[in-house]
Amino acid sequence: MHLLFINACPRGESSRTLALSRVYLEALETAGNVTVTERRLSGNLTPLTADDFPGGQQRTDGDVSLARELADADGVVIAAPYWEFTFPALLHLYLERVSVPGVTFRYTETGSEGLCRGKFFRYFFTAGGPVPAEENLGCTLLRHLAGLYGMGDFKAVGARGLDVIGLDATAILEKAKADAAALGLSDRALLS
Ligand SMILES: Cc1cc2nc3c(=O)[nH]c(=O)nc-3n(C[C@H](O)[C@H](O)[C@H](O)COP(=O)(O)O)c2cc1C
Repeated sequence: MHLLFINACPRGESSRTLALSRVYLEALETAGNVTVTERRLSGNLTPLTADDFPGGQQRTDGDVSLARELADADGVVIAAPYWEFTFPALLHLYLERVSVPGVTFRYTETGSEGLCRGKFFRYFFTAGGPVPAEENLGCTLLRHLAGLYGMGDFKAVGARGLDVIGLDATAILEKAKADAAALGLSDRALLS
């Protein structure tokens, strides 16, 4: 079983979101039959422009192979901090690149149809403020995209209020890590 881990944490090893997602991955990996490919998003990603549509409609080989990596994974895990009500631009750029018709989804007369084989889509985030669940537009957006790609089993785990003076950020993060570990253990069944 093969997971794609999309690391969209710009602060690298200092990232609390990355630490949270790793707890989940470690819980999953104890199953033994799970391999994880990490795609660490970097500043090499650029917005789509005319150069990315050779011939007008088709997409470049680079985008197709990035999209195939997503389509072929048995499960997809995203780690991205909460920025500007959603997530960092790096992740928006990545999603633009992998939304390739005919690879991750296709349009039909009755709507879109997902082409990804993944059984689930997981999203880990941390937020500086006390973000109510319905205000996390990143969550809403990723849930819709997971559906478009054909991975309707979407779950998010987050730690909120980490930058609020007076709150115990360590305790909040530990609670979220416990939730992430529990989700990792229960997701093992999905991969067997
Ligand atoms: C560029 C930037 C934008 C941010 N935007 C928000 C925001 O809109 N709402 C919020 O609650 N926190 C916001 N934060 C705070 C982060 O969500 C918070 O510090 C988070 O835990 C960072 O995750 P990390 O440790 O994985 O980098 C922002 C931080 C940065 C650097």
